[in-house]
Amino acid sequence: MKKQLLYEGKAKQVYTTDQSDLLVLSYKNEATAFNGKKKASFNGKGRYNNLISAYLFTYLADHGVPSHFKQTLSDTEQLVQQTTIIPLEVVVRNLATGSIVKRLGIEEKTVFDPPLIEFYFKEDALDDPIINDQHALLLTDATVEELDQIKSYALKVNHVLQSFFDTIEVKLVDFKLEFGRDRLGEIVLADEISPDTCRLWDKTTEAKLDKDVFRQGTGDLITVYDTILKRLEAVK
Ligand code: TMP
Repeated sequence: MKKQLLYEGKAKQVYTTDQSDLLVLSYKNEATAFNGKKKASFNGKGRYNNLISAYLFTYLADHGVPSHFKQTLSDTEQLVQQTTIIPLEVVVRNLATGSIVKRLGIEEKTVFDPPLIEFYFKEDALDDPIINDQHALLLTDATVEELDQIKSYALKVNHVLQSFFDTIEVKLVDFKLEFGRDRLGEIVLADEISPDTCRLWDKTTEAKLDKDVFRQGTGDLITVYDTILKRLEAVK
């Protein structure tokens, strides 16, 4: 199935397949933070992200949000539809924490209702700066209609996943999405949704169950990723 390594990112490798519109994503064990300045490898991390992302994309597809995800191939690999990635990181926030607290001086845990949507320009050389819609129109080939579609999907993902995580006793604090265009030019969700790209807090204790334990050096990444996967699997 896998043919040639097409691209290697910080957390995944992308391979071509014998079908031109299908790619294999292979999840690595590496964790990075602060644009790659902090790095470590965790046995089993690739498996957690692969299985958690597959679960969430399947759940979202069942609830009306299309994505590039096709099927799980192995513990660390999944088959996806090829898309042209729009170089935007789309962040949705329900509670204030992380960069917004530092940037704007908003008090930690302030509730955002309606949720906040932010765009960041996906460009490592610039450290992924925050941008507005007009910058997004200037810096990418996305149209006004596509940005509207992206924002609408982002809010829908938030709505669907917030209710879902609530059932497994997890607060969806914030998360990052990426979108691409499929062969027909339609906007679809791409990349991954996992504890690497979300802030997930235990509903009762507010213990962090995501990559912040590695970013901040406050806990064991594998233990908390395992908690999330076990809670997801208990739903089936
Ligand atoms: P932030 O508070 O650091 O801006 O992060 C907001 C959300 O986006 C959080 O859930 C973590 C996620 N995120 C990524 O997935 N990739 C990144 O490069 C960054 C900076 C944040």
